Amino acid sequence: MKTAIMSAMYEELNRITKQMNISRKTKIGNRTYYEGEFCGQEVVVVFSHWGKVAAALTATTLITRFGVEKIIFTGVAGGISPDLRIGDIVVSRNLYQHDMDSSPIFPRYEIPLLKNNHIETPETEIDKAFNIIKDFINEDFSRNFPAEELERFHITKPQVIVGDIASGDEFVSETSGTRQRIINDLPTVLCVEMEGAAVAQVCHDFDIPFVVIRIISDSANDDAHIDFPRFIENIASIYSEKIVEKLLF
Ligand code: ADE
Repeated sequence: MKTAIMSAMYEELNRITKQMNISRKTKIGNRTYYEGEFCGQEVVVVFSHWGKVAAALTATTLITRFGVEKIIFTGVAGGISPDLRIGDIVVSRNLYQHDMDSSPIFPRYEIPLLKNNHIETPETEIDKAFNIIKDFINEDFSRNFPAEELERFHITKPQVIVGDIASGDEFVSETSGTRQRIINDLPTVLCVEMEGAAVAQVCHDFDIPFVVIRIISDSANDDAHIDFPRFIENIASIYSEKIVEKLLF
């Protein structure tokens, strides 16, 4: 199965492209698509850029130009649920667009013409991701990371949770009011990010299986930006690389 690895983290992409057997590099629409083999699987690896439009463009290109049969999306997210701590991992179930509002024509959050306000991740993809991530956490997790970085972010034993994710074209913090609105209106949402629901909608329309995997980098509050680049470089990109490796094997 030809699988796309789509990431919102350039650093993770670099880690993967350095290890994969690249057969071809193609530039389309300001992205570079790396085709080749990683962990014995046929893959196309690409940096999605940030935001829903960028993610939808990239997912559509992967499906229509490269013929991928499945998309794995990885990146970071801001935790909304009080149960989530920095370093925890969320595997997508339902993906909402928290900035979708065509009311009064359709109810707020409903995706026009889909008669639904969310897209569901296929159950088999959820199970597979959840099980391999549980193994990753349980098997000597910390040896993959610089000890001082885990300490800096207070990560000891992260948890993996399957749950709902909301995407929108906004880096969410306390001040904007978006965080509280999501808590009120979409109470099952665990975390927020900027791409997942767009990828899910494209995959839904093309009938392609997908899963979104998000590492919690912040609590979507007023500290959300603190140490963000450092977390991505030294923690999140390593998580994603290891998870992708295990998912493909
Ligand atoms: N990705 C990581 N943290 C985020 C946040 N607080 N809002 C949106 N996307 C994010």
